[in-house]
Amino acid sequence: MADSPRRTPAAKLWGGRFAEATAASVEAFTASIHYDARLYRHDIAGSKAHARMLARQGLISGEECDAILKGLDGICADIEAGTFVFRPDLEDIHMNIEKALTERIGAAGEKLHTARSRNDQVSLDLRLYLREEGEGLRRLLAEVQKGFVTLARRHLGAVMPGYTHLQRAQPVLLAHHLLAYVEMFERDRDRLADCVRRLNVMPLGAAAMAGTGLPIDREFVAAELGFPAVTANSMDTVGDRDFAMEFLFCCTVIQLHLSRLAEELVLWAGREFDFVEIGDRYCTGSSIMPQKKNPDIPELIRGKTGRVTGSLMGLLMTVKGLPLTYNRDLQEDKEPVFDALDTVRASLSITAELLGNLSFNTDRMRAAASGGFMTATDLADYLVQKNMPFRQAHGVVGRIVAHCQERGQELTDLKLEELQSFSSLIDGDVLEVLKVEGSVNSRLSIGGTARARVEDALRRLEKNLGITG
Ligand code: ARG
Repeated sequence: MADSPRRTPAAKLWGGRFAEATAASVEAFTASIHYDARLYRHDIAGSKAHARMLARQGLISGEECDAILKGLDGICADIEAGTFVFRPDLEDIHMNIEKALTERIGAAGEKLHTARSRNDQVSLDLRLYLREEGEGLRRLLAEVQKGFVTLARRHLGAVMPGYTHLQRAQPVLLAHHLLAYVEMFERDRDRLADCVRRLNVMPLGAAAMAGTGLPIDREFVAAELGFPAVTANSMDTVGDRDFAMEFLFCCTVIQLHLSRLAEELVLWAGREFDFVEIGDRYCTGSSIMPQKKNPDIPELIRGKTGRVTGSLMGLLMTVKGLPLTYNRDLQEDKEPVFDALDTVRASLSITAELLGNLSFNTDRMRAAASGGFMTATDLADYLVQKNMPFRQAHGVVGRIVAHCQERGQELTDLKLEELQSFSSLIDGDVLEVLKVEGSVNSRLSIGGTARARVEDALRRLEKNLGITG
């Protein structure tokens, strides 16, 4: 009797010490297979590397290893063909695959979990998955960047108001505004690369949490899976989700950047701004108001930012206060990561399409850039160049603006003599300074909006992104 497993409980891979079968409600409550099934490729890749290592170390035979590798390939093919049946009573992707393997190849399958725990296995799977997805997001970000660079090149001559406090501030090139987003997404790409670099460390061999007494070779597994290093502390390894939190932070910042763009598009597409027209195919209508054409894509991108941020917050709270080492709470890491990833991926890809379907109303932008005392700072700088202290110049121009406002005039409406009544330093050369183009092109400081600077930036970004002019 001692050798024969008791019937029902033994159906579980961990059923040995149990006298009763798991309650159905518990199986339903603890199962993660409905979402962690998406890790199947990474789970199988990890298991194959682990099996090769076990064989090299003499922990399994060469034949057993071959049977395991073949069996795992067969399972992979069946999952991809959609014929593999995932069983919730087997909890997660790790046990679904291990159980199927044993059913297919017999006793050799039962040796796969030698010197391994699901605690280090799940960390490996998620790292492999995020390494791949991180690169995918970086490629998508580059597509979005290319969309912006293309628009900037096309509209290099267009001017528009730059805003602070959503009030017209100083005239800028539309291209300068567009390239600001390219810089934001460049930081996102860099942040992701950094996150991937840090998560690219091999956790297998930590086993349950203390390491293993069996003669394993962690470095071999790392090399097989393309990891440059192995994790240092087995207890840290199975309790660590820093990499998932970091990845979620990267996702959140990308979505925030998309959301700021979305907000601008919503504003700019409205009649009050009327700076941009979004192509019909990328808008939706109203079920009651026949005249409506709504910017639903940017609105949804903006809306989904709440959900991505929520995923980050959720995982931070899950990890807060967990004692070392592994706790089942950590199973709650995957849904927020997957949901954020899916959301950011979809948002980036629709944004890349959207950018190709915008037409800018550059006449409207130019008109908006011409009024509203947008060159007041230029006038102050003009006086500074004539040696007036900046604070005094600020005051002089402030009085000129107030004078204009009383009369409902713009700076360019004033005659030279009128301007000179505010300061004797003002000469005929002031008129050039008050023009929009003069203002834009004077801003030659590094990173400024002068056309020459923006052309430099465009060339640099086109080169980085592999766009040939
Ligand atoms: N499904 C589990 C997770 O995602 C795998 C690890 C389970 N480990 C355990 N000791 N129950 O975290």
